[in-house]
Amino acid sequence: MSESIRYLVEGVVDGSISDTELISWLKTVHSEGISETDTIALTEAMRDSGETLSWDLAFSELVVDKHSTGGVGDKVSLILAPALAACGLKVPMISGRGLGHTGGTLDKLESIPGFSVEMDSEEIQAQILDIGLAMVGQTERLVPADRRMYALRDVTGTIDSIPLITSSIVSKKAAEGLSALVLDVKFGRAAFMVELDKARDLAISMVAASKGMGITTNAVLSSMDAPLGCAIGNSLEVLESVETLCGNGPSDLEELVCIQGGLLLHSTGLAEDRDTGALMIHDSLHDGSALECFRKMVEAQGGDTSILDSDYSLMAGLGLIDTQLNATSLCVAGSGWVHDIDALSIALACQRMGAGRLELGDSIDRAVGAILEVQIGDRIEEGEPWITLYHRNEIERETVEGLIGSIALSDEEFQQVSRIHEVLG
Ligand code: URA
Repeated sequence: MSESIRYLVEGVVDGSISDTELISWLKTVHSEGISETDTIALTEAMRDSGETLSWDLAFSELVVDKHSTGGVGDKVSLILAPALAACGLKVPMISGRGLGHTGGTLDKLESIPGFSVEMDSEEIQAQILDIGLAMVGQTERLVPADRRMYALRDVTGTIDSIPLITSSIVSKKAAEGLSALVLDVKFGRAAFMVELDKARDLAISMVAASKGMGITTNAVLSSMDAPLGCAIGNSLEVLESVETLCGNGPSDLEELVCIQGGLLLHSTGLAEDRDTGALMIHDSLHDGSALECFRKMVEAQGGDTSILDSDYSLMAGLGLIDTQLNATSLCVAGSGWVHDIDALSIALACQRMGAGRLELGDSIDRAVGAILEVQIGDRIEEGEPWITLYHRNEIERETVEGLIGSIALSDEEFQQVSRIHEVLG
C-alpha cells in the first residue's frame, strides 16, 4: 500500500491523477479510514511532494515548531516562538490564516504595521541563521500536494477525516526539517474537535505520524470552552502577546506557553525535564529576553517596533494601532463569581464585527475585537462591564443579542482550573 500511496501523491502533483480519481480516493479514506502505517506513508509522500527546509548539522537538532488546531484568543505562537529562540532553539514557524470563528497567526502578525509574512525558503533559512526565528506563511513550493488535496477535500465534505487531517498538518510541519514538534490539540465548544475523545484520537494519530518521520513529538490536549487570555481579535491579540512577553500576561495563556515550550526544550535536550524547560520559558518572559527576540523578528520582517517601545499598557497600545475604533462595554445583570465564558459566541460576535473571514480570501478588519474585563474565577458586581467590544461601525443588535448568556455567574466562589487536560507522547 505504501508504494501505491507514494505513486498517488506523485500523481496529485504531476497531474496524472484526475480530480475524479482523487475525489474517489479521498471519499474512501474519509469513510473507511487507513492504517497508521499508511497514514505515515501518506504524510511522508506529501512532505516529499515539494521543497523541504534543510539545516546546518551544527544546529539541526535544535530546530522545532508547534501547531495548534485553533481556538479563540489563541495567541500562543506569538509568545512561544520568541521565547523558544531566547532559550537557544531555532524556530522556522510556518503558520496559516484564520478561518471561520478561529483566528490565524498570520493575520495577527500582519496587524503590526509593515510586518511581512512572505519569505521564500532561502530567506527563512538566512533569518534562522541570523536570529533563530522566523514566522511566515506557507510558500508555494512547500507540500504542493496538500494544496490540491485540501481544495478537493473542502468541496467534497472530506475535511473531517483523522488520517487526512494528520497528513495535511504533519507533512507541512515535517517539511520544515524539524527535530521536535509540540501539538496543541483543542477540545471544547469553540474547538475544531468538540469532543475530548475525538481530539485525543486526532492527537494520537498526529503524534504517531510525526514520530514516524523521526520528529520527537508531544501533544497537549487543552480545553477551548473559554477564550484564551483576555484579548480576542488580531491587533488586540498582538498587544496581549507583547504584554505577556513583558511578563504581564494572563495566567492561563502563560501556563500554556510554558508547558509547550518546556516539552520542546526537553525533547531537544536543552532541559533535563519538561518542568525545568517550562521554568526556562517562564524566565525568558520575565527577564526581557523573549521580548528582545520578538523585537529582532519584527525588525527583520519589516514591522514597526514602536508597539514594543511604548510605556506599555493594552489601551495605550490600542491607541498606537488604531484610534478610530468605538468601544462598547456590556455589563452583567447580577453579581457573582465568574463560572464560565463562552468562547464560541464571543468569536462569532467578533466575526460579525469584521475580525474573521467566512472564506479564505475574504478581507478582514485587523483592528476590531473584544477584551474580556473579567476571567473565570473573578468576582463581578451587578452593572459592572464583563466585556468591551472594539468596533468600527455601529454595533448590530444581533451582535449584542448573541452575547446574552455568554457569561455564567455562580453564587459560590469558583477557582480557575488549568485548561491542560493531558499530555501525550
Ligand atoms: N489544517 C490543515 O492544514 N489541514 C487540515 O486538514 C485541517 C486543518
